Order: sequence, then C-alpha cells, then structure tokens
Amino acid sequence: MATQQKSFSSNLGAIMAAVGSAVGLGNIWRFPYTCGKYGGGAFLLVYLCFVFLLGSVLMMSEFVIGRRSQHTPIKAFGTLRPDRKGWMLVGVLGVVTSFFILSQYLVLSGWTTGYVWDAALGTLGSLGTDAAAISDYFTAFSTDAWRPALFLGVFSLLVLAVILGGVQKGIENVSKVLMPVLVLLILVLCVKSLTLPGAGKGVEYLFSADFSKLTGEGVLAALGQALFSLSVGMGVMIVYGSYIPLSDNIFKTAMWITVCDTLIAVLAGLAIFPAVFSCGLDPAGGPGLVFCVLPNVFNLMGGAGTVFAVLFFVLLTVAALTSAISLLEALTATFCEHTHASRTAGALLFFGLTTALGLVFSLSMGSLSHVTVNNLTLFDFVDRLNSIYLPPLCALFAIIFFGWVMPEEAVKDELSNHGTLRIGFYPVLRFLARYVVPLALLVVIVSGILS
Ligand code: PHE
Repeated sequence: MATQQKSFSSNLGAIMAAVGSAVGLGNIWRFPYTCGKYGGGAFLLVYLCFVFLLGSVLMMSEFVIGRRSQHTPIKAFGTLRPDRKGWMLVGVLGVVTSFFILSQYLVLSGWTTGYVWDAALGTLGSLGTDAAAISDYFTAFSTDAWRPALFLGVFSLLVLAVILGGVQKGIENVSKVLMPVLVLLILVLCVKSLTLPGAGKGVEYLFSADFSKLTGEGVLAALGQALFSLSVGMGVMIVYGSYIPLSDNIFKTAMWITVCDTLIAVLAGLAIFPAVFSCGLDPAGGPGLVFCVLPNVFNLMGGAGTVFAVLFFVLLTVAALTSAISLLEALTATFCEHTHASRTAGALLFFGLTTALGLVFSLSMGSLSHVTVNNLTLFDFVDRLNSIYLPPLCALFAIIFFGWVMPEEAVKDELSNHGTLRIGFYPVLRFLARYVVPLALLVVIVSGILS
C-alpha cells in the first residue's frame, strides 16, 4: 500500500478539493433556512456538536478507509477485510446514493445557473418588487420543460469538463481557483448585507437561541444537515481519501475541512438574513428563500441590486459545481476501477445517466407531476430518499466497519502515518466511532422511518 496511483499534489490541494465537495447548496441555501426555522442559535449549537463530534469522525473514517485501501468504495471495503466480502455491499450502497444525489443536485444547480443568466440579463430585475410576480416567475421557470433542461445541461457539461481534466489538473486546480473566489464573493455579500439598515434583526434571527423552536424534528434536521454538508455517507470522501497524499495528516485535514465548511455556512446565513430583514421581508424556507425572497431583496436595492444578484447566483453555482464534481468523480473512478474502462468513457457514461435522470426529476416539477410514488412527485421522493434514508444508512455501515470490523492496527497506522505522527486524540475518536456515532445514526434512521 505504499504506492499511490492517483493523488492530489499537496495537502492544500486535498483540502481545497474536499472543501469544494463539502461546501455546496447545503451550506448556502439549506443551512440558513433550516437554522432559522429551528430556533437560530439553539439549532446552531446542536449543529456544531453534530458536525464536530459525528461529521468529522465520519469524514476521518472515510479518509482512512480510502487512503488505506487505495481503492474506490466497493473494493475498499473488500480489501480491508478480504475475509468479509459482504461489506462490499456498503460500497455499492454508497455508489447508488451518489448517483441519486448527483441526479437531483443537477436539477437545483441548473436552476441556480439559469438564475445567473436571468439576473445578468436583467430579467429578474424587471420583475420589480412585486412578490407575487417574482414567485410566479419562479414557478413558471421550474415547471417549464425546456429552460431548466437547458441550464441543467450546461451545468452538467461544466462538471464533465472538469472530470475529464483529471484529478490534479481538473479537480484540484479548479478547486484551488474557485474556493478563494467563493470566499471572496460570500464576504462581499456579507459586508453589503450587514451594513444595510436594520440588519441587526437578521443577525438576531440567526444567532439568538430560541430553544422552544428546537423540536425533535429540528435535532434530526441538524444531524441530517451535518452529514449532507460534509459530504459523508456516500463514499465520495472514500474516493477523495484515496487521493490524499500519503504524508498528509488525516486528522488535521478533516478538521480543516469541517471548520471551513461550518464557517461558510454561517457566513451564508449572515449574507442572507440581514438583507432579508432589512427589506422587511419574511425569510421563507425551502426554494422560496433563494429564488423568491432574495430576488425581491436585490430589486429593492435599486441599480446595484443587479450586480449583487449576479454575484449571489454565481456564488451558488460555484458552490454547487465543486460538489457535483466530487460526486461525478466518485462514480467515474469507481466504474473505471471495476471495468478498466478509460476515464473518458466512465465520465461520459455517468454524465449521460445522471443528466438523463436529472431531466426526469426536472420534468416531475411540471409535465410529469402526475407520476407519483407514495403520493410524492419523483423529485420529492428522491429528495426524501437522499436526505433521510440513504446517507445515514450508508454512514452507519461505514462507521460500524471502521469502528468494529477494520483491524485496529490498520486504523492507527493510517492515522499516525506509520507511527510518525502522534495520535493522542485516538481514544476519543475510537469511542465516538464505536458507540456515539452509530447510535446517533440509528436514531435518525428509525425516526425517519417512523415519520
Ligand atoms: N456537501 C454538499 C453540500 O453541502 C452536498 C454533497 C453531498 C456533495 C454529498 C457531495 C456529496 O451541498
């Protein structure tokens, strides 16, 4: 296991690529409204516990599994315990999860790409401050057959182009450019938002702790959000783990990623809520927040609003892009390892399949809305699958493997880089990985099923 076939060129490259995967629509869109909905500071507190005690442990375990085995998820489990091949099914589950998540993610990313276009051309601006007109525009856009499909296609092609570029020249280099751009954009938007009159109310909404709003559902939402936001529970981090240079410190790398991901989520909240409250608008949840409320906020800003609207939707699209890249990479790398197909063939195949499925999900908002599963449209059904069932299940099996099945010496050896790094944190990590994380995941899964 001393040689590494494919890898990021440096620790910075590995961190940038993994932060790129972690920071996505989950941070900039889902985190702010979930946090606001479940009691602001109270939710934040619980979220921080989950991210650092559970999420970072899951990330470390995936990194260890990936780097130790030097394989993609399915083979990784098989290599680390060759006598228990059944664990390879966890890898299969991860691949299936990545496939569904990417297909659904492409739909939302297509919308953000479309809104960059609409903001830049002034179409959004021309809707003025009439909330009903803005919301009707979004409904017409998302239920239309052609425009979302067009932008979904454009976005998917961008993702494909990066994957075809390769691990270092594609993923790593693009992440090294886009991540600083993303931070810059979010800071500009934060400054603007926080300096608007009455911005304090938005800050209060985000940070003041209202424990009465933190229901059991809110606690579960915090855990689901922590997993989704860190991109754990689907094998993507196993693949990226296999690319982490052998000399890197896995513990520190995972910590850096967790801190960056959390900071960006909080900054996103600070970019959004003060502006919303300053305009006297209601912070709606779900898609309404970024596609209906925010365009209204930008239009209320007058001429400069167009610039901020473009910046915001570019920010969302950039965040979505590096996340989608990690998902397509995981699928491509796994396929190529098993079939020995070329990277180009693998990438094209999964680009085609996920784009096609994405188009079906997109149509399920409009012309295919009559097709339902369990009374849910196909999009809502896959959304439920992707948020409540598949990732926690996959994460549960992965952590059991890490804590109970994988040889302990291998774990210690990998975390300490063959005994050259001190791993004083190990007893705590082991306790969390064996008891706390599996138990928490079990609770989420059972309550998901019961709901
Ligand atoms: N972490 C990404 C986000 O916050 C989503 C994602 C999940 C990306 C799983 C890759 C794998 O939006």
